[in-house]
Amino acid sequence: MKKIILTGDRPTGKLHLGHYVGSLKQRVDIQNKGDFDEMYIMIADAQALTDNAENPEKIRENIIEVALDYLSVGLDPNKVTLFIQSAVSELTELTFYYMNLVTLARIERNPTVKSEIKARGFDQSIPVGFLTYPISQTSDITAFKANIVPVGDDQLPMLEQAREIVRSFNHTYGEVLVEPKAVLADNEVCKRLPGTDGKAKMSKSIGNCIYLSDDADTVKQKVMSMYTDPTHLKVEDPGHTENNPVFTYLDALCTDEHFKKYLPEYKNLDELKAHYEKGGLGDMKVKRFLNDVINDVLEPIRKRRHEYENKIKDVYDILEKGSNKARKTAQNTLKEVKEAMKINYFEDDALIESHIKKYEK
Ligand code: TRP
Repeated sequence: MKKIILTGDRPTGKLHLGHYVGSLKQRVDIQNKGDFDEMYIMIADAQALTDNAENPEKIRENIIEVALDYLSVGLDPNKVTLFIQSAVSELTELTFYYMNLVTLARIERNPTVKSEIKARGFDQSIPVGFLTYPISQTSDITAFKANIVPVGDDQLPMLEQAREIVRSFNHTYGEVLVEPKAVLADNEVCKRLPGTDGKAKMSKSIGNCIYLSDDADTVKQKVMSMYTDPTHLKVEDPGHTENNPVFTYLDALCTDEHFKKYLPEYKNLDELKAHYEKGGLGDMKVKRFLNDVINDVLEPIRKRRHEYENKIKDVYDILEKGSNKARKTAQNTLKEVKEAMKINYFEDDALIESHIKKYEK
């Protein structure tokens, strides 16, 4: 079977370290291994509008930010197709047909939708478009017959929903669509990076993110004021490395090479953790190391970002070309879908012929 990969992000803000370790890094690895037939990466502007309807300017400004983030982490437009969701109108059309295969109750049971309704305070006034976004996400995936979807673990309910819609469609209309599989980051801590304040998740609205586009001074200031172990008051005190975001970030990012380069008195993270837990290792020293590690990771990303920032017109060209290519693929799938649903009247000679016969005198 062909390996077709699709994933995407909502353009509601710049991408941060959580996105990087949770998904972007993995995408670049997959890209560079080259073990796939096609790879699509989508900027989900239409989905972002389902809970930002009154704020189109925000979405518009962040499309270029996300595109710059994609290119700066090393996604290569010669290897992968970068495109904008709303530029592929076939996705909207597919959504309308898939809607008939899903119940309202099923959507309302989707845990991601549930928690987002709560977080947005939609309560009793949920925009219909917002409730349908899991269906539109199914269109994003199936339009390309993607079978591999690299995502964060919050997206698992969306993938489950997509598989159900695919099964229902194929059962009702015949085998056209392909069931997708989610692929998560393999390092457990990478699945959900906490915020710099120790809260469960990096979130723009809380202001606890380290952005891929942050400069070295900003990173330093954010790292140095990070939440650590509140029981570790004096250097001599034994400390906790679990639920301590400084160590979680190190778990996600640092390698033995980083120790050689920046902290040669320790061989690896296990040794550093053991010292912290025993007592006698201060937060400042660990934070300085983390700052070095983060900057080591971000430096090549910043460099590439600056290059692309100087050729914004090229970035738009990349998105336009990618969107045109994505559109061709989606058109083919939509054609098959309409055929299977028997709504391809003008292409169906047998239908016309049978109706001629029916009314023949
Ligand atoms: N829901 C995803 C997010 O919030 C973005 C997205 C839209 C997506 N369509 C997709 C991800 C299709 C994977 C596949 O980040």
